[in-house]
Amino acid sequence: MTHFMLKEICEQPDVIRKLIDRAISISFEKVDRINILACGTSLHAGLVGQFLFEQVAKIPTQVRSSSESLFAPLIETPNTITIAITQSGETADTIAALQMVQSQRIAITNGIDSTITKQVDRTIYTNAGEEKSVAATKTFTAQLVVLYQLALEAAHQRNQIDQQQFETHLESLRQIPQQIEAILKNNTIAQIAETLRDTRDLILIASGINTAIALEGALKLKEATYTHAEGYAAGEFLHGSIALLDPQIPTIALYPETVRKTIDRIRVNQHHVIEIPTAAIPELFTPFLTVVSLQLLAYELAILRGIDVDRPRNITKFLTT
Ligand code: G6P
Repeated sequence: MTHFMLKEICEQPDVIRKLIDRAISISFEKVDRINILACGTSLHAGLVGQFLFEQVAKIPTQVRSSSESLFAPLIETPNTITIAITQSGETADTIAALQMVQSQRIAITNGIDSTITKQVDRTIYTNAGEEKSVAATKTFTAQLVVLYQLALEAAHQRNQIDQQQFETHLESLRQIPQQIEAILKNNTIAQIAETLRDTRDLILIASGINTAIALEGALKLKEATYTHAEGYAAGEFLHGSIALLDPQIPTIALYPETVRKTIDRIRVNQHHVIEIPTAAIPELFTPFLTVVSLQLLAYELAILRGIDVDRPRNITKFLTT
């Protein structure tokens, strides 16, 4: 394999397999609020985490970009847990944001002994191995695994799901690696990339838990291919932003079954929608599959355009100042 980005995309099934059965013991019984701080791709993992903590564990959860939290700190209660998510553990804004936090602090990071680990009460490592490509891929899905584990654990402890539902969810998580392998073996995404070779602007739509993945896919496409890509919640896209569309701007629909109304509205106006197929698994777990498809799309498109995909222009792997 010639590029780290592709190698790291392909490592994801193994990274997830190694994490799945690791026990994490944190007490969520008294927790009345979860705050999440992160930047970039890690922020999008945080948005998936927010969906899980709110919708599955029923704990009010806020996510804020670390840099924005310096201007607008999140509200804390005595029983708040603050989770900082950072692949590197060295992002200056996340370090600064955490300095203002009074509540119990947990870091989710891939950076062994990184600065963030010395700031927090507890570190949960993502154990994804070194990620060399600037665009984060395997560290993102490893962050997701940890967030799913925490949210399912919280939901179980707080009797929002019973033992059987807990086991069923864990089993769904265990199935993810082989479903990612099926995507990696398939040629569909490479074919879609070919159709987008000359596309300069792109819209991504999704709903629910995949809305965060529309944002993450757009970021991956910007970072790796320099395409102007924007992610939207599908329902919200209809309220104004749909005016952007013209024959040169295709829309990519994630998990299309859930965004049919928006797809139909776009097609009625004669615009092009690309549906990314997703295996029939419980919707809650689809972010792992939708994101891998978009990582691959960004990679394939970058290669078609002759971009140095592991070292895109203007960005670094993390920002320490
Ligand atoms: C930089 C990178 C992004 C990354 C972000 C957060 O801006 O270009 O790709 O997501 O930092 O990095 P972290 O190490 O905190 O997850």
